[in-house]
Amino acid sequence: METIEVIRNRRSIKSYQPTPVPRETLQNLVDLARYSPSGANKNAWRFVVTTERDSLQRLSQIARTCSWLATAPAGIAIAADPAATRYWLEDTSVAAYLICLAAAAQGLGAAWAAKHQSDNPDESKRRQDMVRDILSIPGSLMVPMVLAIGYPETQPPPRTRPELTDILFWERYTTKE
Ligand SMILES: Cc1cc2nc3c(=O)[nH]c(=O)nc-3n(C[C@H](O)[C@H](O)[C@H](O)COP(=O)(O)O)c2cc1C
Repeated sequence: METIEVIRNRRSIKSYQPTPVPRETLQNLVDLARYSPSGANKNAWRFVVTTERDSLQRLSQIARTCSWLATAPAGIAIAADPAATRYWLEDTSVAAYLICLAAAAQGLGAAWAAKHQSDNPDESKRRQDMVRDILSIPGSLMVPMVLAIGYPETQPPPRTRPELTDILFWERYTTKE
C-alpha cells in the first residue's frame, strides 16, 4: 500500500488469525523501527519480541484493556533507559507508531497496550514491573507499551476521525464556540 493509504486505513487490530508471524517478519518490523527519529538521535530504544504463549498470556493479564494480547501471535515490548535519553517516552512512542504503520503496510495488524499513564505513576509502575518480570527487562528501563502483532482476523472499517476544522488553526489558536 502507498504510505498515505496506510496512514488513512490503519486500525488497531485486536483479533488475530492463529497463523504465526514468521520470525523474519517480526525482525523486519524492529529493523524498520531503527529508522525512527529520536531525540538528539540517541536511538535508545530496545525491543523485546515474544511469541511464547505463556508470556503473551501473562502480558494479557496486566490490565483488562489488553486482554487481546492473549491470542496475539506475537508481542513487542518497547523499552528505553531514561538515563540514556530524556525523550524515552516520545522516542518509544514514535517507534511504536512506526511499527504499527509498517505492520499495516504488509497486511499485519498491531495494537498498542499502554503500560504508562502520565497521571498515574503507581499504575504505570505496577504494569511496567509486570512486563519487566515477564520479559526479564532490567528495572532501569521504562516500558511504556507492548504491541500485539498478528494477521487480522477481520479488518475493522475506517474510524470516524475528528473534523479538520475542529482541530486545525492557522496562525493563532482560537476558541471555536
Ligand atoms: C498511547 C496509546 C495507548 C493505547 N493503549 C491502549 C490500550 O491499553 N488498550 C487498547 O485496547 N487500546 C489502546 N490503544 C489503542 C487506541 O484505543 C486506538 O488507537 C484508538 O481507539 C483509535 O483506534 P485505531 O487505532 O483503530 O485508529 C492505545 C493507543 C495509544 C496511541
